[in-house]
Amino acid sequence: MADEKTKKQWTILELIQWTTHYFQNKGIQSPRLTAELLLAYTLGVERISLYTHYDKPLNSRELAAFKENIQRRIRREPTQYITGKQEFWSMTFKVTPDVLIPRPETELLVETALRLFKQPAQTADPLSGSLTLADIGTGSGNIAIALAKELKNCVIYASDISEKALEVARYNAKNLLENPDQIIFLKGDLLQPFEKPDSSQVEGLGTRSPYREGTGSSNKLKFNGILCNPPYISEKDYAGLAPEVGQYEPKIALLGGKDGLSYYRRLLSTSVGYLFTQGYLILEIGFGQKEAVQKMIERTPGLTLQEVVKDYAGIDRVVVARRVDDARP
Ligand SMILES: C[S@@+](CC[C@H](N)C(=O)[O-])C[C@H]1O[C@@H](n2cnc3c(N)ncnc32)[C@H](O)[C@@H]1O
Repeated sequence: MADEKTKKQWTILELIQWTTHYFQNKGIQSPRLTAELLLAYTLGVERISLYTHYDKPLNSRELAAFKENIQRRIRREPTQYITGKQEFWSMTFKVTPDVLIPRPETELLVETALRLFKQPAQTADPLSGSLTLADIGTGSGNIAIALAKELKNCVIYASDISEKALEVARYNAKNLLENPDQIIFLKGDLLQPFEKPDSSQVEGLGTRSPYREGTGSSNKLKFNGILCNPPYISEKDYAGLAPEVGQYEPKIALLGGKDGLSYYRRLLSTSVGYLFTQGYLILEIGFGQKEAVQKMIERTPGLTLQEVVKDYAGIDRVVVARRVDDARP
């Protein structure tokens, strides 16, 4: 880009063309789209208006801000952390470096849940008649919020071990949902927050509360469905991640132990006790993990494999298990 001393007036179109070429040479993926997203963000406008104002020149302050954003991207910072947002389920989520950037393939987890739960209320809580779902490792809240948007008669408990992620998720719920109280956010390790929930967090739900105090069962919450997109990258794969992912996204959101499967082991060994009979456990899996996760389900008493769903690239992406008996409390 020419030095400011030359007093060249850069128009929007010229900057898109120059930056696209620059990103291409630096090996940045989707160079044109990235240039447009960063320029629209810098100018505080929608992408479409770049085209309706393509011959508008930038002032020196705008140009300096755009240069800074280009440099951040060249240092491999993800575009979404620069702009602070990512689309998911046709909604714009706030994202910060404390949360995983929602991936398009995770929409399949939501689609699968909707297909299962939009059926007649056969899976609803027999006492309240409404659905109660859990989203474990909610991150930006994308899965829970998409479900809440689609299933109005549904209470969703969303947990994460990261308080900072929960702050982002709470913000997104308030910003994106008509009724943000549909989601109850709890901090803790996997299903542990549902073991003995703080009564202030479940008060007010009335008959919708899945907290079965005084019914003779343990004081665990019970769900019609538990969803989870856990960290599932193995140590070996983690070392080879693109810098955008490995250097910028939270390690705690990515690394799934030595073989990438440790969260599945922990979830499968505990989730049966938190599901109503016929309830679903719906898990996102990584490339090549189907056989291992399938075997774990087959070895888990009280669970049966329901289906494996492929994503649009033909990769096994979502595994559904179902609670088949009432053997455990
Ligand atoms: C792969 S990210 C998924 C984020 C979001 N649900 C999505 O699909 O985009 C995994 C999430 O699990 C959280 N997490 C990691 N370990 C956890 C644990 N032991 N208990 C609860 N959440 C955990 C991370 O903080 C992160 O937000």
